[in-house]
Amino acid sequence: MRTDHFIRFERVDSVEEAERGLLARLHGELLRIDAVRPDVVRLQLSRGGSFDPKPTYAVCVDPLASGPEGPVTWRAEPGEDAWRLVTDELVVTLWLDPFRVDVHRTDGSVVLESVPDPEGRYWTYATLNDAWTTRRRIGRDDAIYGLGEKGGHHNRRGRDFTMWNTDVLNEHATAEFRAGLDAADPRSDMSSVEFDPYYVTIPFFYQRDAETGSAVGSFVDNGYRGEYEFSHDDEYRVTFHGGQWTEYLFAGPSMASILERYTWLTGRATLPPIWALGYQQCRWHAYTQADVERIAKRYRDDEFPCDGIWLDIDYMDGYRVFTWDSSRFPDPAGMLKGLSNQGFRTISIVDPGVKHDPGYAVYDDGLEQDVFCRTEGGDTYIGQVWPGNTAFPDFATPEARSWWGALNATHVESGLAGIWNDMNEPATGEIAPQAMLFDKGRAKHERYHNQYALLMAMGTIEGLKAARPEARTFVLSRAGFAGIQRYAANWMGDNQARWDHLWVSMPMACGFGLSGQPFVGADIGGFQGDTNPELFLRWMQMGTLTPFCRNHSEIDNIDQYPWSFGPEVHDLAREAVRLRYRLMPYIYSAFVRATETGEPVQRPLVLDHQHDPAVVDLDDEYLFGRDLLVAPVTEQGQTSRTVYLPEGDWYDWHTGELHPGGQRITVETPLERVPLFARAGAAIPMWTEAPASTDGYRPESVELHVFDPVVDGRWESVLVEDDGLTVTHDEPGAEAQRLTTTVVVTRSGGEVSVEHATSGPGYAGHARTRFDVVRHAA
Ligand code: NOJ
Repeated sequence: MRTDHFIRFERVDSVEEAERGLLARLHGELLRIDAVRPDVVRLQLSRGGSFDPKPTYAVCVDPLASGPEGPVTWRAEPGEDAWRLVTDELVVTLWLDPFRVDVHRTDGSVVLESVPDPEGRYWTYATLNDAWTTRRRIGRDDAIYGLGEKGGHHNRRGRDFTMWNTDVLNEHATAEFRAGLDAADPRSDMSSVEFDPYYVTIPFFYQRDAETGSAVGSFVDNGYRGEYEFSHDDEYRVTFHGGQWTEYLFAGPSMASILERYTWLTGRATLPPIWALGYQQCRWHAYTQADVERIAKRYRDDEFPCDGIWLDIDYMDGYRVFTWDSSRFPDPAGMLKGLSNQGFRTISIVDPGVKHDPGYAVYDDGLEQDVFCRTEGGDTYIGQVWPGNTAFPDFATPEARSWWGALNATHVESGLAGIWNDMNEPATGEIAPQAMLFDKGRAKHERYHNQYALLMAMGTIEGLKAARPEARTFVLSRAGFAGIQRYAANWMGDNQARWDHLWVSMPMACGFGLSGQPFVGADIGGFQGDTNPELFLRWMQMGTLTPFCRNHSEIDNIDQYPWSFGPEVHDLAREAVRLRYRLMPYIYSAFVRATETGEPVQRPLVLDHQHDPAVVDLDDEYLFGRDLLVAPVTEQGQTSRTVYLPEGDWYDWHTGELHPGGQRITVETPLERVPLFARAGAAIPMWTEAPASTDGYRPESVELHVFDPVVDGRWESVLVEDDGLTVTHDEPGAEAQRLTTTVVVTRSGGEVSVEHATSGPGYAGHARTRFDVVRHAA
């Protein structure tokens, strides 16, 4: 009988007031409810009578230390049926019999309402498959956002999701998920835009109330495999297969405030070096050194801006990480120096799998240092990746992370600028990963699987920082877990060269952005399958207006360079890239804000216009930074499209025409441009020209493009300038070496005025002597 396998948390035996809230006893376990911030509470249930103090590496602050508001005030209210924990903004009700938890805002509106299963159980733990499940009420038209990297529409309501980092195109890794699904279910089709699960796990979501437009949030700090079921009519279910229940609940009601709280807990992105925001050239191809040098030269000859040249797995000697194939790359240091002299940064791929190859120094050393994952029997776990049999570093241990960091540090010494972490779900080919144990064989695979890429990035960053303490770091990661934004950018893995994959990269990027990861981008042009001139161009036009901008494609595809599709595509792609470079001061400032508040760079309209019902399901356009609205072309042969403009007034970037917001308009989409709009009142800082790369580019003037408001009011835009490369903007105890310019646009009685003021000590190499204000009026 199924029910025999359930532990039923029926009633609470006792409750007492604890250091920061309530401590209850039930069914031999302990339940803690802590006030974290006035609008954030944490619920924790022990297993075996004790709490796991660090369930994952996601949370990077002491949640019980004071938040930015200072110490949280709270009180416990005992009662016969229930105990309550009350903060200035929240009331948590712990019902005693049957046990359940409800959370409300102090105005009585619902944050969380538990619902029972058909057998009357509110919260269960299934001993059969080591899974706990909880159910909560949800309105039929409520929207769900977040969960990081997921396919399909950005409103997740109506669908179910699995949290298990997966190499999406590996049929062995996905077989289990596909087998459990109906053949007609789009989640079972590996090339579908709704395939699930994906590479990255972020167990954090928002629930937007359909009637009030207010939002609440939930972050379950658990790295085990999980399921979120949002397909049920009146309830949603959360299941995790292992670990403890540690959940943070956010009262909102604004999505922006929930995101600020979530990124306070799990950290914010580190400010990237500015070159990482430039255009990046990548391709999986067996290049030689001469090929790479030729491609770089072509970019410069064509005056096509480009900052990054990427090396995929074939630069290695037989796919042995941290080596070079010396027949194809006879002089890596010379090549890197030459590229650097032309203003390029070079980034190389580093997979976690270390070739099982006695005699290969990295493998031998890993064995010697005992830093590889083991099996239950104590042997080195061997999986299958590019080099064949591979060992996997046990990143759950600090020793393995340091070891890996040191290898990365040596690797970049020859002149690499950044590291690209791939296959870190971890992908193990035809061999199932479950036998790969962590923490020197002490921890089951499931505990760390979803955290593997996060731990790998931690080790990599540790090494890069030790090697070059003054430099900003850059790591790009395929997989990740909550908190990955602290260490790495994410790209969206192996997409297809198809129009629906171009489209899905928008909701996917927005899902990432709402889940704390602002530095994201899809493979421009499409990775798998041959692209075509029109798709490539349209993807370039969109991709240049996304946070991470990299052209990449799979081995054996047709050439996918900007010049591969004839002069027209080449010229128009260059126009798109040049616009990105001209917008660099705006893009850079948006990144600075992301690092300070968690606010995403690419975002769904619902974040800034939460109460507008028209944007709840809108995911074929987005905001890029606060003030630019991008509506890409997502279909072949499209000559016009509709664009929804939210509240405010919007200037058509290309024609200068002004449109009032709150309406849907139709705009032409000739091949040379995609619809782009600027918010009236904004001041968008731009370089006057597009340089060949960001390297050494220090213009004397920056343009402030002011889009005149047509209603009275006050608008503030912020530009941050610094050296873009070092950590002098952020050294503990030192004044940030930067300049912050606030532009205030005011309209009063029909008169528009523009004022700007700059503060800060400046930075080494600053050359700007003036601003040129460029006005755009209706
Ligand atoms: C899989 C990655 O997703 C892809 O971007 C890369 O080109 C290949 N591995 C080869 O390294």
